[in-house]
Amino acid sequence: MEKFETVSHIRDFLQPIKRSGKKIGFVPTMGALHEGHISLIKEARNDTDVVVCSIFVNPKQFNNPEDLEKYPRDIARDIHLLEIADCDVVFIPSEQEIYPDDKSENFDFGLLENVMEGTFRPGHFNGVATVVKRLFEIVDPDNAYFGLKDYQQLLIVYKMTKDLKLPVEIIPCPIVREKNGLAMSSRNERLSAEEREQATLLYETLKMVKIRSGYASVGEISSFVEQQFRRNKFVKLEYFEIVDMYTLQPLKTWASSNNVIACIAAWVGPVRLIDNMIIFS
Ligand code: PAJ
Repeated sequence: MEKFETVSHIRDFLQPIKRSGKKIGFVPTMGALHEGHISLIKEARNDTDVVVCSIFVNPKQFNNPEDLEKYPRDIARDIHLLEIADCDVVFIPSEQEIYPDDKSENFDFGLLENVMEGTFRPGHFNGVATVVKRLFEIVDPDNAYFGLKDYQQLLIVYKMTKDLKLPVEIIPCPIVREKNGLAMSSRNERLSAEEREQATLLYETLKMVKIRSGYASVGEISSFVEQQFRRNKFVKLEYFEIVDMYTLQPLKTWASSNNVIACIAAWVGPVRLIDNMIIFS
């Protein structure tokens, strides 16, 4: 596997490959890799000739300084996992390489950012879009792979790519879970064994929501979810929303959309977790 730390070196390596007509698959990450990330590498491996993974903990998308400071980092382990997954190129840039003049872009995602993560993490998606756009410019991929785990982020990246007419195909990939149902996340590393068990409440609740959607109203389900979380003293609900899959606007009735996803964010000890489940589409 080739390793690059500078923009000029990775460009010098990738540009001739691209010119020769080979297809480049790109998986942007913030490291502390787990099977969720590796599943994206595998999809890219299947679809494209050269697989590139970036590892960059992007300060611009952290609205909480403690979250940035405590974000797990283990580059040696990440490199090892990428080698096993048959990744071709890893890009591990410094902040200076990504933001030489420290400028932030201002994106307008309209209604997509006025809900859920957009409300609770102000500036987060602007930071995500800024770094993804910059990484796309550097890597110039044909395909880029994103997890459904961060569903709102996926829609934001779709919109940015479409609005700016970037020549990249965005490929959504399924959520990878632990055996107990907990969605894999780098932040899970900060949970104790007890907290990891308690954190399954997110997935358990989403499963119950899907079953209940067959007979209960949207309002009844929201009350049910709040009650589930009130009962558990380890897990604190931040939001639960039943929304349209494309506009992310909350539903009042099931009949108001044909494509519905339930999204949840909750605190387990000091760690904020998100999860979601498609209810029907
Ligand atoms: P990170 O949290 O490292 O995630 C990198 C990619 O892996 C994202 O597309 C995310 O949705 C996907 N992913 C994470 N956990 C997953 C799981 N359990 N199953 C499937 N896919 C999963 O998301 C980011 O980094 C950053 O915001 C980034 C896009 C790299 C921009 O900085």
